[in-house]
Amino acid sequence: MMTRGLVLGVIWMMLYCVCSSFQQEPPFLFNGFNQGDPRLHLQDSAIVIPRNHVLQLTNASKTQIGRALFQQPIEFKPSEPVSFSTHFVCALLPAGDPSGHGIAFFVSHSTDFIGAEPTRYFGLFNSNESSSTRVLAVELDISIAPDVNDISDNHVGIDVNSAKSNVSANASYFSEGRNIDVKLLSGDPIQVWVDYEGTTLNVTLAPLKTKKPSKPLVSSKSINLTEIVKGRRMFVGFSGSTGSSMSYQYILGWSFSKSVASLLSIDISKLPKVPHPKSIKKPPSLALDALLSLIAFLVLGLLIGGYMYRRNMYAEVREDWENEYGPLRYSYKSLYKATKGFSKNEFLGRGGFGEVYKGTLSKSREVAVKRVSHEAEEGMKQFVAEIVCMRSLKHRSLVPLLGYCRRKRELLLVSEYMPNGSLDHYLFDHSQTSLPWWRRLAIVKDIASALSYLHTEADQVVIHRDIKAANVMLDAEFNGRLGDFGMSRLYDRGADPTTTAAVGTFGYMAPEIVTMGPSTGTDVYAFGVFLLEVACGRRPVESSLSAEKRFLITWVCDCWRRSSLVDAKDPRMLEFSSQEVERVLKLGLLCANFVPEARPSMEQVVQYVNGNIALPEFWPHSPGIGVLTPMALSPGRLTIPSLSLSSSSNNSMFVTHSVFYGSGR
Ligand SMILES: *[C@@H]1O[C@H](CO)[C@@H](O)[C@H](O)[C@H]1NC(C)=O
Ligand SMILES: *[C@@H]1O[C@H](CO)[C@@H](O)[C@H](O)[C@H]1NC(C)=O
Ligand SMILES: *[C@@H]1O[C@H](CO)[C@@H](O)[C@H](O)[C@H]1NC(C)=O
Ligand SMILES: *[C@@H]1O[C@H](CO)[C@@H](O)[C@H](O)[C@H]1NC(C)=O
Ligand SMILES: *[C@@H]1O[C@H](CO)[C@@H](O)[C@H](O)[C@H]1NC(C)=O
Ligand SMILES: *[C@@H]1O[C@H](CO)[C@@H](O)[C@H](O)[C@H]1NC(C)=O
Repeated sequence: MMTRGLVLGVIWMMLYCVCSSFQQEPPFLFNGFNQGDPRLHLQDSAIVIPRNHVLQLTNASKTQIGRALFQQPIEFKPSEPVSFSTHFVCALLPAGDPSGHGIAFFVSHSTDFIGAEPTRYFGLFNSNESSSTRVLAVELDISIAPDVNDISDNHVGIDVNSAKSNVSANASYFSEGRNIDVKLLSGDPIQVWVDYEGTTLNVTLAPLKTKKPSKPLVSSKSINLTEIVKGRRMFVGFSGSTGSSMSYQYILGWSFSKSVASLLSIDISKLPKVPHPKSIKKPPSLALDALLSLIAFLVLGLLIGGYMYRRNMYAEVREDWENEYGPLRYSYKSLYKATKGFSKNEFLGRGGFGEVYKGTLSKSREVAVKRVSHEAEEGMKQFVAEIVCMRSLKHRSLVPLLGYCRRKRELLLVSEYMPNGSLDHYLFDHSQTSLPWWRRLAIVKDIASALSYLHTEADQVVIHRDIKAANVMLDAEFNGRLGDFGMSRLYDRGADPTTTAAVGTFGYMAPEIVTMGPSTGTDVYAFGVFLLEVACGRRPVESSLSAEKRFLITWVCDCWRRSSLVDAKDPRMLEFSSQEVERVLKLGLLCANFVPEARPSMEQVVQYVNGNIALPEFWPHSPGIGVLTPMALSPGRLTIPSLSLSSSSNNSMFVTHSVFYGSGR
């Protein structure tokens, strides 16, 4: 490849030298230009753009002059008439608004243009007409300068030693009996012919693909070139200039000879293309410009706004330590879409920590999404770690946690969707159909085994800390599923649980929870209360009821003391086994024993509730049974938001069914 290039290059050089030696004299032809062509003499900012093979006179800089001359002077023997014929193709492109100055083809007596000025003087003349300039020029002028008698900003003129034209005409060409206007500064290639013979100089113009018109555009019959250049030796070339306004000035091809007959023809099809620098714009009207800018601005604004909105809308908080939980992480976008933007229609209810929405992920998988708002970032890591641990808990009576997502001030927990909602609705909402006893018993057994699993069979002891009917979910087959691990905490076996603040729901909280903290025993207590509410169909504390009925535990015990334990059962329950109801109520009282040590373990509870072993003998007046010592509040250990207090007869403080939040979160 390289050798071939080298050989070709050498051959070309040889041919070139031979040709150029012949071409010292006109006629000569440039069908496009080559960088470094020795026939060309470039001055100032004139260059040949190598990629395009275009001769560029000036670039888009202010007050530039660029000239390109044929290297050799044209000489006429004394016997020869002084005449010439030239044909060139040029293009002028605007480079700003207003747009620049034009170009000129010139015949000069030397290559030095001392005192020549840019702008309207084309880099050939200056304001001093009496200076010794000896130049004939054909100007293609695109600016109007009254001091040099310009007729318009689009004209062609013949200049003799001055920028003031001897003759000039608006740019046009003659075709089919009429003149057609030509816009010089269109960026389109324009053909120009300049013919001089005797004392007549004709200048003819035409667009690229048009034949030379039969009539010249401007003509002067009193040009004595020998007199102008003061001799029979002259230089020919092009000159262009810029002022405070610019234009790109290109020459695409050039042919020159001493006579029309010997003029070599330019191959139009082989001419280079007019370069279109990026900065070039056609000068649009100011209003259109402003409008376009405004539209562009608005579109850009909308795009950026939309992007920022989406970015903000779906923004998540993700930290390095979470990487190990990668697969558990749901994108906020997916959850947002699954819940139809957390729409009201998907709202399921309000849990201990936040709102729960139903969501439909891809493949029509239904999930429950809980939005937990959290202000403090501290403890988040531990909390997420716990949640992730919860996922490893697998029991048929637990609501499976699927994953989570973190946002600023928000945590989203994704768990399996339970079609039949929470148990409390069926127990306390009398507009709902009541659950038959056999179903209630089955649910109680489900929850007992789930809690036993958490207490004993999981890798770590898991204390649920918020056992209540509201946290028992019902799946499609009305199986009980223990849910809402939001309030749970994990404890390593043997770790001191008292380090954690009290968490739970009043009425289900064991009396010692404030002083001792949560334990499996406090869970058993809450489970006892849960048993009573399932059997009796009422909440553990009903502040609207009379004093003797207000507290479920004492009331059930009273019923037992007065007549029959079964009297306490849910009146909506019609078909039931008295034996089973009695066993559940007794077990409830046993679990809710005031004395922690007197409560059974969850393993035992499972045995009792299934009737595998008989309950121990005890009576309504047995120690700790049916005793509800009002819980003393120690404000130092609890943060209680919107606490509603009511005084009982013996002046102790009660909290009426308020939810406590631990201060440790
Ligand atoms: C134009 O040419 C002049 C002289 O060659 C040079 O100094 C200037 O940097 C050029 N400007 C641009 C925009 O290329
Ligand atoms: C014009 O040029 C002539 C000759 O070169 C010189 O004598 C004269 O001072 C110039 N005038 C101005 C105004 O530059
Ligand atoms: C036209 O050119 C001649 C020289 O050829 C010059 O003497 C004359 O002043 C010019 N006329 C105008 C109007 O510029
Ligand atoms: C040249 O064109 C301008 C407007 O572009 C016009 O005002 C002027 O009269 C024209 N001149 C000639 C000689 O046609
Ligand atoms: C100039 O144009 C006139 C009119 O068309 C023509 O008669 C004459 O021969 C031309 N002269 C040259 C040198 O082309
Ligand atoms: C041009 O001018 C020169 C001297 O200035 C003169 O010798 C010659 O005859 C003139 N040519 C024509 C065609 O008038």
